[in-house]
Amino acid sequence: MLVTYELVGDLGVITINNPPVNALSQKVRQGLVEAIAEAQTDNSKAIVLICEGRTFAAGADIKEFGKPPMAPSFPEMNEAVESSAKPVIAALHGTALGGGFELALSCHYRCALKTAAVGLPEVNLGILPGAGGTQRLPRLVGVETALDVITSGKRVAAPKALELGMVDRVVEEPLQELALAYARSLLDEGAPLRRIRDLEVPAAQGSADVFEVWRKNMAKRRRGQVAPQKIVDCVEAAVSKPFEDGLQFERASFFECVGSDQAAAMRHMFFAERKAAVVEGLSGNAAVKPINRVGIIGAGTMGGGIAMTFANAGIPVTLLELNQEALDRGLALIAKNYSITVSKGKMSQEAADKRQALITGSTSYDSLADVDLVIEAVFESMDVKRQVFGELDRVCKPGAILASNTSYLDVNEIAACTSRPQDVVGLHFFSPANVMRLLEVVRADATSEDVIATSMALGKKIAKVPVLARVCYGFIGNRMLRPYAREAQLSMIEGASPEQIDGVLTRFGMAMGPLAVGDLAGLDIGYKARQALTPEQKGDPRSYCIADALVEMGRLGQKSGAGYYRYDPETRARSSDPEVLEVIEAQAKAHGVQRRTMSDQEILDRHLMALINEGFHILGEGIAQRPSDIDVVYVNGYGFPVFRGGPMFTASQMGLREVYDCICALRDKTGADYWQPAPLLEQLALEGKTLDSWSADKR
Ligand code: 3HC
Ligand code: NAI
Repeated sequence: MLVTYELVGDLGVITINNPPVNALSQKVRQGLVEAIAEAQTDNSKAIVLICEGRTFAAGADIKEFGKPPMAPSFPEMNEAVESSAKPVIAALHGTALGGGFELALSCHYRCALKTAAVGLPEVNLGILPGAGGTQRLPRLVGVETALDVITSGKRVAAPKALELGMVDRVVEEPLQELALAYARSLLDEGAPLRRIRDLEVPAAQGSADVFEVWRKNMAKRRRGQVAPQKIVDCVEAAVSKPFEDGLQFERASFFECVGSDQAAAMRHMFFAERKAAVVEGLSGNAAVKPINRVGIIGAGTMGGGIAMTFANAGIPVTLLELNQEALDRGLALIAKNYSITVSKGKMSQEAADKRQALITGSTSYDSLADVDLVIEAVFESMDVKRQVFGELDRVCKPGAILASNTSYLDVNEIAACTSRPQDVVGLHFFSPANVMRLLEVVRADATSEDVIATSMALGKKIAKVPVLARVCYGFIGNRMLRPYAREAQLSMIEGASPEQIDGVLTRFGMAMGPLAVGDLAGLDIGYKARQALTPEQKGDPRSYCIADALVEMGRLGQKSGAGYYRYDPETRARSSDPEVLEVIEAQAKAHGVQRRTMSDQEILDRHLMALINEGFHILGEGIAQRPSDIDVVYVNGYGFPVFRGGPMFTASQMGLREVYDCICALRDKTGADYWQPAPLLEQLALEGKTLDSWSADKR
């Protein structure tokens, strides 16, 4: 029984029990409608609606999306609850999200455990609340708060939800007992049946301007996404239309979104992120080791951010540097980052102090004797890493995990610097490490199953999305970045401007274009890395000569005020620079390239196909476990638009044969070896297979 009803004295209790997250599937909706009807016929005076297990309902059953709607619909269920002649009180624990919170909004009162959170995260699935959320929430909390909650998809903790009016009471455990007591107190007070549908939207706020401001705001913050604009339309309808009409408007908008490509892509990402944490082929004996204390070597850009990540998760850190001066600098930067978060009102001073106190500095390896995990984040040099891992091997206790945050270096070689290669793993964080969600867990040849299982579990514990990779140059993400960056360089020398290239890719949805990213990261980094390579390793000179020339002119990117663009020293505002075009033209001439007009489509195809083809190499070589893992990496680490579901999902949507033909056409046009289609892509395209069928065959 997914929904049960019982009488407790003169109060009715409806309980939903649909593990793991009480998703409101058709059967649950049906059960709920029946339970509400039953409660109308007995001598109960009020009804408490509560869920078993780890959470109140987490929303619609996402697996039902894309299938024909099944009665009772969400609006029908909520109408039954709201129309109850007896007060219905929702008792919330865990997370009341999406359709779950909309169900709670259809109840007449809401109480929540102090630890609970509520929210309408539909926007993260490319849809909008389709069960009255956009109509009821503004009536309860006003237009602006409703817009903020629904367009951000954020979770609102119970105490804050109480302040905003999203819940009416916050209680402690035991929830059912206290919810029943709350129901009784409402009856004793003679509290009215408060139906949100009958409330007026608070008048002061609903001016036309508010909606225009939010539309612009969404066009910027959620560039390219359809659902956020429709959310604003729906909330506007809550102000301008009667409740029933608003509800119908919301329903129609919901169906438009749910059937869209964007929603399909974002659903793919939802399940892909969860699947990424699963390691194929681990024996049942792999044990997750406790990680109670962490050591980090290097307090630079990455080490500082990684230290904050662990402190934010409540895990104490020892941060080790070469000398006191470097350590002080690193600790001061961490303190500054926390104080910025506090000044923005995103964290209390008390919480920041608590986190900072979890980070202890050191300049002696002996202080790492007791840690369960060490993450090395020193300079990207095998010599330095070798020396660090030698020291770690000497001081760390047996069984401690020794991890490297290297971007490119060979983790097998690093492991070989120790007497315990089974304990060595790559933990590749992304910058800024305390913000970016992606974590590549790099499994070396000798890495033990325990270490892999522990690393993946730890990733989740510190609020990252862990993705498993095997060893190769650049692992999954940075390896794919190389051909993508190559195409940016080649497109420039062959005829496009930085503005055109970045424009095409940002319109596609990338967070930034490749050349603006280069300026942000610093052009000198790639330049220095190239100095260490042989001409053969560096590849076609046309794919780096412009970058080299800019660096040699002192144009290092944003930090020097100029790179592919010019930057205002005060505001960092970006502008075009005719000097760059001169550099490009001079390099084209020097390399015998006749520049030409390049279409936006060609630019897009070349960049996208470069990513996809490399993705297929990575899959075919077994570097990534599954296609969706590559999508998770690219969306969470490289600014690929979530509403396109990642490069491999994009390839699947296009059809593998079309992708293959496009890559063959680029090969035939350029004659370049690197446009040879990856063997796996060729095989699937020619056999008429899909990535889904390939994944299924592998299992
Ligand atoms: N539908 C179907 N399956 C769901 C689901 C949902 N709404 N929410 C979670 N699941 C599944 C997950 O896929 C996962 O399955 P798996 O074990 O096979 O991988 C399992 O439940 C557990 O999920 P998590 O691993 O995410 O568990 P956590 O404890 O870490 O998180 C959670 C729990 C916070 C509830 C998180 O699962 C979550 O955010 N869920 C989605 C919430 C959401 O987006 N709700 C809105 C849905 S759309 C909607 O309601 C439309 C309405 O307006 C009409
Ligand atoms: P960084 O130069 O900002 O910091 C390195 C720090 O390590 C410096 O503070 C230095 O004093 C310290 N250090 C050097 N040798 C040391 C030693 N023997 N013992 C203790 N401390 C030592 O470098 P960054 O950017 O933080 O990179 C660190 C590592 O992380 C590199 O391997 C890099 O490839 C990788 N990485 C960098 C990313 C980035 O965006 N910066 C992203 C992901 C990985």
